Amino acid sequence: MSVCGCLIGRPVMEVESRYVAVRHHVEGFPSEDDFEVKTGKLSWRPESGEVLVRNLYLAMDPYQLNRMKRRSLAHVDAGGIVPGERITAYGAGKVVASACAEYKEGDVVAGLLGWEDYTLFRPTPGVLMYKLPAGSDDDDLHLKHHLSALGTSGMTAYAGLYEVCKPQRGEKVFVSAASGSIGSLVGQFAKLAGCYVVGCTSSNAKVELLKNQLGFDDAFNYKEEPDMKSALKRYFPDGIDIYFDNIGGKMLDAALVSMNTHGRVALCGAISEYTDASHRAAPDLLEVIYKRIAIRGFVVWDFLTRFNEFTGIIGDWIRQGKVQPIVDVSNGLESVPSALTALYLGLNIGKKLIKLA
Ligand SMILES: NC(=O)c1ccc[n+]([C@@H]2O[C@H](COP(=O)([O-])OP(=O)(O)OC[C@H]3O[C@@H](n4cnc5c(N)ncnc54)[C@H](OP(=O)(O)O)[C@@H]3O)[C@@H](O)[C@H]2O)c1
Repeated sequence: MSVCGCLIGRPVMEVESRYVAVRHHVEGFPSEDDFEVKTGKLSWRPESGEVLVRNLYLAMDPYQLNRMKRRSLAHVDAGGIVPGERITAYGAGKVVASACAEYKEGDVVAGLLGWEDYTLFRPTPGVLMYKLPAGSDDDDLHLKHHLSALGTSGMTAYAGLYEVCKPQRGEKVFVSAASGSIGSLVGQFAKLAGCYVVGCTSSNAKVELLKNQLGFDDAFNYKEEPDMKSALKRYFPDGIDIYFDNIGGKMLDAALVSMNTHGRVALCGAISEYTDASHRAAPDLLEVIYKRIAIRGFVVWDFLTRFNEFTGIIGDWIRQGKVQPIVDVSNGLESVPSALTALYLGLNIGKKLIKLA
């Protein structure tokens, strides 16, 4: 970092910052070769209204792939990613310079930063950014929680389960991608609501985690099930009341066949379709109509105004030992490409994070 000039008597700050970019639009399955690490200069100026942050942790989120496509509805909410340019992403970091009264040097923040060493941001209404307690940068666990259970994953899991599906005690809940960031929280939240919970995932080790560590009533490896419809009939002999869908595709079609009358489906994500558009779900609509099933897509930002309420509840559950956030950390900015592609191969367990500093 260098102090390289003077403006209205205050120094301008210039930092060299590496950032991850895509070389071109990414359609279908991503590979590490689609990415490059570039270096650029960021200039912070005292009259800019901007805040300069040294990033400490970065989040890996499946929706980023949709932003990398030439066209995707994800661009409407999150913006498209331009090849060669920096990529906004959730993260946590420490303020090194601020031209904004809300933040001061040394503050630790979490919110929309970028896959880069340093981020310049300007506080914007509707864009998540908040201060963490002083000293959080020395509390590794605290930082990781704020990018998982106390961040967007926790808010998505809470909103999707409690606000969209409204679980009742004794109801049967099915969760896909259950060992992932959101799925692992949804299953634990549903247990706290008194539900019977079954998760599906892609390996026997992950099945054991769900059953033995996270308290799921049951779990199965979908890769070992040749017929998903009969597998779900076996795991839910009395039917499914709530399906929390993280993957879309054929699993959604199969789940609808086992849904009970007045069942609810939260369409959180469709990751199986992000990498392969030919895997689109083709639900039997008569199942939906005659069983009066409510299927609702939702986006976490619909609930942004309730962020403090939801994360307050989740924080209490974590402190009381009722919820266990799972994180999966890789080191260094150069590991962003492999960490992102890991999400579509099911190689992560819990929230995939990159530790930078
Ligand atoms: N609606 C919203 O506001 C919102 C917000 C955040 C995330 N999301 C969505 O929620 C879902 C989960 O996100 P997350 O951050 O918690 O990710 P994650 O579950 O931690 O990671 C992705 C997981 O998806 C599973 N997966 C990958 N490819 C698959 C395929 N082809 N078929 C079946 N499963 C596959 C893998 O788990 P297995 O090993 O179990 O296969 C993988 O570990 C994603 O679809 C994401 O886009 C939605």
